[in-house]
Amino acid sequence: MGLTENWVDAGADADLAEGTIVVVGDPADPVAVARGGGRLYAFDDTCTHEECPLSDGSVTDGEVECPCHGSIFAMRTGEALTGPALESIRTYKVRVEDGRIQVLIDR
Ligand code: FES
Repeated sequence: MGLTENWVDAGADADLAEGTIVVVGDPADPVAVARGGGRLYAFDDTCTHEECPLSDGSVTDGEVECPCHGSIFAMRTGEALTGPALESIRTYKVRVEDGRIQVLIDR
């Protein structure tokens, strides 16, 4: 029995501009897909501090800043670089297939 790979469509690669974020997956536990520094990243949209949506925050190169209290996370590793958040966010694999962004939501 193999593992089921759950790649989720996140829209056209051409539509995700630098510094912008789209949200995919379960609305109760959404995943953010961002383009920063020309690269794609996927990570939990929910800040580990007080659960604000990181998709309302700002992306700079490889980092995303929470809109509520300014925590900064590394989008590649999910590490909380500055508080008040202490816990990392989960990160996910992201790829482009036939011009579509896809995220592997493997939880
Ligand atoms: S909810 Fe994100 S820093 Fe407070």
